[in-house]
Amino acid sequence: MVALTLVIALASAATLAAGVVAGDPVRGRELLLSKAYLPADFDQEVFDSLWTLWEEPLRSRAERAPLEERRRMAMERYGLTPHPLDSSRSLQYVVDAQGRWTMSCLACHQGQVEGRPLPGLPNTDYALETLTEEIRQVKVRQRKALGHMDVGSLLLPLGTTAGTTNAVIFGVALMRHRDADLNIIPASPQLVYPHHDMDAPAWWHYRRRQQIYADGFAPKGHRMLMQFLLVKENGPERFAEWEDDYRHVEAWLESLEAPAWPGSVDTVLAARGRALYAAHCASCHGAPARDPLVADGYPERMVPIDEIGTDRARFDALSTDQRRSLSGSWFGRGAVAPVAGSESPSGYVAPPLDGIWASAPYLHNGSVPTLWHLLRPAERPTVWRRGAPAGYDRERVGLAVEALPAMPTGTLLPVERRRHFDTTRPGKSAAGHDFPDALDEEGKVAVLEYLKTL
Ligand code: HEC
Ligand code: HEC
Repeated sequence: MVALTLVIALASAATLAAGVVAGDPVRGRELLLSKAYLPADFDQEVFDSLWTLWEEPLRSRAERAPLEERRRMAMERYGLTPHPLDSSRSLQYVVDAQGRWTMSCLACHQGQVEGRPLPGLPNTDYALETLTEEIRQVKVRQRKALGHMDVGSLLLPLGTTAGTTNAVIFGVALMRHRDADLNIIPASPQLVYPHHDMDAPAWWHYRRRQQIYADGFAPKGHRMLMQFLLVKENGPERFAEWEDDYRHVEAWLESLEAPAWPGSVDTVLAARGRALYAAHCASCHGAPARDPLVADGYPERMVPIDEIGTDRARFDALSTDQRRSLSGSWFGRGAVAPVAGSESPSGYVAPPLDGIWASAPYLHNGSVPTLWHLLRPAERPTVWRRGAPAGYDRERVGLAVEALPAMPTGTLLPVERRRHFDTTRPGKSAAGHDFPDALDEEGKVAVLEYLKTL
């Protein structure tokens, strides 16, 4: 790690002008865990009262439990991971000395597999909408002021399925109130947006990409990472002040490597899968970082929307003008040179598949629960239900889920409804990416074995 830090520090120092801070990955990680860049979302008293709203028998169980256990139950309900050094806090929120909790990037970008937090893994358990609704109710009871999330969630859906969020539209809505230099400008409220939920990508892909996001429209750079800080409390001077922090954050992202599969591998089967991967998958997904099996590395290949055939809500959600205005704003200045035409992409970019075993669910909208289902388009469930937190399925490689033919009839509590992924809803289709059907059943079994090794 020390050697790696040094190499990265030297590499960035070489390319940066004098006076510009070179990113330090260790510092970047620390900043995300300890520094609040947004107004606080709630205080400890609010967090510790959430259980009073829960449905039975959970509420009675929480009432009887000691405080520490009650906090653990709350974290489980909302998809938070206890901080390894202080289990009263979570990895996803920064808590200050006054006990105020502030959401960080890690809310969506720090997940766990089998109870193990993995750096850079998206948080597939995060129940942002349920947490926000319940926080708001507690604040009303405790006569406390509402924060930006409490109000924002009345205007925009935050995420209709646990583990996925409407993050792209948050960005669009916030950007309407800024000019290209991030000055706050008056804008009339817009009520109709193409809302759709997204599954955050793994951060260990960052080092391999030049352009980020599902449609690869944004050139990468430390400023581009700061969009999530666009609340009205943060004026342009704040962004300038925090720029160096995000050089460190970017250095951390660049330093991340995909986690290794924790189980055993049938090496003979995986070798067969490797040959099939080279023939059927590598032209789009490229060579895995652990296995440079094709010469041209990672091609960052864009696949036209009709050819990929996956849900198109994300593709249709942004206009060329919106993409161009983000890249042309302060966020895009100082980034690597954008790829020509990236403001009008033709579809989605094939992501690298490093560490793919860990980052279930699959596809940009998180509609496919396991790699087994990804490889069998005809057998993907119409509705699937996850536990809280989502269990891990080592057999099928991905989330342990229950497949259902349709949404259960009758009314479900919101927290329960959001544990169901309903692929018939807009933006949630699990169709497309039929390429694995070029393989026979034996081939699919072999490719699945190979994918574990990436
Ligand atoms: C509310 C959830 C949420 C929060 C908070 C959040 N992100 Fe994300 N992030 C996402 C989603 C969803 C995407 C996928 C967007 C897309 O592809 O269009 C994403 C994409 C990214 C990507 C692109 C990765 C790739 O390979 O394309 C990076 C880098 C990133 N986020 C960094 C950050 C940083 C840094 C922060 C904090 C300043 C942050 N995110 C906060 C949800 C979130
Ligand atoms: C023609 C290009 C192309 C080919 C061939 C292809 N893929 Fe993909 N793949 C994509 C694109 C584009 C996506 C992203 C689609 C989306 O998110 O909507 C994707 C997504 C995936 C994902 C989900 C990634 C994630 O993080 O959610 C997996 C897994 C995957 N492909 C595996 C394979 C395997 C295995 C093969 C070979 C049998 C293969 N792909 C062949 C283009 C391709």
